[in-house]
Amino acid sequence: MFSSVRPGWVLVTGAASGIGRATALAFADAGANLVLTDINAAALQEVFAEVQGRGSDCVARPADVSSDREMRELAAWVRAEISAPALDVLVNNAGIGYLGSFLDTPPEAWQRVLQVNLLGVVNGCRAFLPDMIRAGGKRRIVNVASLAGLVAAPNISAYAATKHAVVGLSESLSLELRLKGAQVGITTVCPGIINTQIAKVRANVATTIDDAQYERLTEYYTRQGANPEVVADAIVRAVRSGRELVLVGPFAKPLYYLRCFSRRLAQRLVLQDARSAGYV
Ligand SMILES: NC(=O)c1ccc[n+]([C@@H]2O[C@H](COP(=O)([O-])OP(=O)(O)OC[C@H]3O[C@@H](n4cnc5c(N)ncnc54)[C@H](O)[C@@H]3O)[C@@H](O)[C@H]2O)c1
Repeated sequence: MFSSVRPGWVLVTGAASGIGRATALAFADAGANLVLTDINAAALQEVFAEVQGRGSDCVARPADVSSDREMRELAAWVRAEISAPALDVLVNNAGIGYLGSFLDTPPEAWQRVLQVNLLGVVNGCRAFLPDMIRAGGKRRIVNVASLAGLVAAPNISAYAATKHAVVGLSESLSLELRLKGAQVGITTVCPGIINTQIAKVRANVATTIDDAQYERLTEYYTRQGANPEVVADAIVRAVRSGRELVLVGPFAKPLYYLRCFSRRLAQRLVLQDARSAGYV
């Protein structure tokens, strides 16, 4: 079924909601077995039941991707739980947003966003990649970045910085693995706006953004956002085909290619969209 990797064991971080949940279900429908993890244990339990209901072998354990220790403990647990030498696919998906102007983004918010969105991917790769290389054969790491990792928007400087970093680390790691002759490929996923819970967490919005602006933001996500299933299907297809860069969801392809053609035009469009959405 998978031309790039064997069907087998797929681990998804941030599997309890949004893109992570949809990706877990899409892989289950494609015949894979799942390892699910998330910081939200209660919601994880529900997705675990959904995946099992589709007939896949599934194990689940809560873990915080921002913790190197918890991710290494998760890897040791997975080694004992699954009847395979290594994961076939690792999906580093867990992430959080932060909306606020640069000067309204406090150091604690920078640290949290960096720890989850950037170090979460680093910790995931460090915990699982050695076994994946050692086991040999075709395997794949999928890093969920964002369109904001290729084309930045205003008032998300911390988020955009981490997603640009994920794009950079993925490309560097991909080249390094090729140099080594390892058969582990890297896919970087850059979704546009997807209707999930990410923008609907008040704690991840600067206090200077008032309730009316915040409401406009959440409405904008609900109105403009694609279903997370669109990203999930693109991820399964990319793993099958060995695709390295996935641009998916509203604006992702046109904006990325416009940006390659003219930075100025792309920025004009981004500013126009931010103003019309009414949250800046
Ligand atoms: N929704 C969008 O518009 C959009 C666009 C581009 C990229 N993304 C990226 O997609 C990924 C998934 O986001 P989503 O939109 O599905 O959001 P979501 O909030 O619906 O789901 C994120 C999941 O990650 C989990 N999580 C958060 N911090 C964690 C941690 N420290 N350790 C483990 N799990 C943690 C949450 O509990 C939640 O279940 C993120 O990396 C996000 O940046 C989202």
